[in-house]
Amino acid sequence: MEYVDKLLRETEYLNYIEKLERLEAERIFCRHGLGHLLDTARIAWIWVLEEQAFRCGFKKEQAARYVAGGETEGPGEHKAFSCGEVALPEKETVYLAALLHDLGRIQEYEEGIPHQQAGAKLARQLLCRIGYPKEKLELVVEAIEGHRDGGMRLWAAGADRESRAAGADEESRAVDEPGKNAARRAESLRQLLFWADKKSRNCFYCGARPECKWEPEKRNEGIRY
Ligand SMILES: [Fe+2]
Ligand SMILES: [Fe+2]
Repeated sequence: MEYVDKLLRETEYLNYIEKLERLEAERIFCRHGLGHLLDTARIAWIWVLEEQAFRCGFKKEQAARYVAGGETEGPGEHKAFSCGEVALPEKETVYLAALLHDLGRIQEYEEGIPHQQAGAKLARQLLCRIGYPKEKLELVVEAIEGHRDGGMRLWAAGADRESRAAGADEESRAVDEPGKNAARRAESLRQLLFWADKKSRNCFYCGARPECKWEPEKRNEGIRY
């Protein structure tokens, strides 16, 4: 992944992570260092791969229920699986969004700025520096800016794929309209980031459970990814 490799060679990026890990060294709740950023990236990408497999199988079984077509996708995207649904994000876009999503925590701790806002700004600077293409850059920045706002409405979460196959989730099957693809792509990446971020937490092994503000039903008591 060309741009991920470029990001990892940016001293400023590595310094942010090092500083964030230092600031959170005594934190008892979830931390946001490299381990968390990578967990989020890999969980999101596993989900995309599962989605590809799901769509592939789904197409074979129930292709007639889908409207083929939708806007032509850009190079490198998963054309074969889009079938008029929300296009799946590129691997590198997913990794960049995840690797950058919580850097703003530093400014949140030091200046009280909400980390999604501070993080979006930092992400833009770093992505510009590594020369990440403008259109894709906006997807990543928007995803980071909204990564605390709720997720998986456009997608059905992995566990709901059976109900999608039964036609229960109309929204997830909504067809991309030409001209609206960019907005839907940005929204779908944002939702995926939100969801993978939450799934990355090992609540079943957390010493801060008694003090944690997460509602019990939202905690990850098992491993799905
Ligand atoms: Fe966050
Ligand atoms: Fe996070």
